[in-house]
Amino acid sequence: MESPFPKVQPRLGLPNLGLGIGLRTCHYAHILAEWPEVDWFEIISENYMDSQGRPRHVLEQIVARYPVVMHGVSLSIGSTDPLDRDYLRRLKSLAEWVRPAWISDHVCWTGVAGRNTHDLLPLPLTEVTLQHVVERIKMVQDIMGRRIVLENPSTYVGFTGDSMPEWEFIGRMASDANCGLLLDVNNVYVSATNHEYNPVNYIQSLPAERVVQFHLAGHTNLGTHIIDTHDGQVINPVWELFRLAHQLTGGTSTLLEWDANIPSFSEVHAEVLKARQFMGLDSSGGQAGFMLPIGQPRKPALPQPLHSIQMEVL
Ligand SMILES: [Fe+2]
Repeated sequence: MESPFPKVQPRLGLPNLGLGIGLRTCHYAHILAEWPEVDWFEIISENYMDSQGRPRHVLEQIVARYPVVMHGVSLSIGSTDPLDRDYLRRLKSLAEWVRPAWISDHVCWTGVAGRNTHDLLPLPLTEVTLQHVVERIKMVQDIMGRRIVLENPSTYVGFTGDSMPEWEFIGRMASDANCGLLLDVNNVYVSATNHEYNPVNYIQSLPAERVVQFHLAGHTNLGTHIIDTHDGQVINPVWELFRLAHQLTGGTSTLLEWDANIPSFSEVHAEVLKARQFMGLDSSGGQAGFMLPIGQPRKPALPQPLHSIQMEVL
């Protein structure tokens, strides 16, 4: 049947890897013993950049068997500090070893004056910031010798001087810098709730042809705001946003992040496989019938913000 959605030339020539999960150390033993049938893995670049020990030994076996993407948390593309050339050198060295399908990081800044906060901080959404970020993306792409992919952040505060919505900033950034986008659907939901804007409008406003990957994750809803904790299952409103994003892009590589209270490999894998229910074009099918009201609290416990980055470097 002909798709009712517009055809886009997706992924900037990058492959659709299917349904993958984030590689975490607690699953090493299972993976090495079972070699489970999972489409692909995403690694946190920093967990392997400076390691020559067991993490590299495990990763060597995984990259021999599965497609792998490198996802970083320290590029700090929005900082006013000079680009960290040593970090980029080490990132490039890892990439030459891993040969990832692509390399991603976040639209944020993580520190200034040489200090790393280990937090993915929001940028002022202004013309000046946009130009600054675009120039730095171009520099990084020149240094790395490849196009990079950047992810929309989850945010809790904004700037009174913001002059454009985040979706406009990110869309223009991707076009002007000629980079790819990692659309974290859960981040859209988290930020849209925290800042009271429409997540559907956000996703519809992005340049679909530049979206090369999706992220999915769970979060913690405290009623007044949402913390992006990656500590549970994906809620149904986020799945519904994924359905929309899948339709608009024609489908692309999809990755589940689970970073706290991590269950068994099988449970994490089963969660990302739920995506299949939302990849059809029949909006009346699948799980659409039990969509939860937006903003429904899930857990009363105090959460750990994900963006207090949990690196697994030993
Ligand atoms: Fe993400």
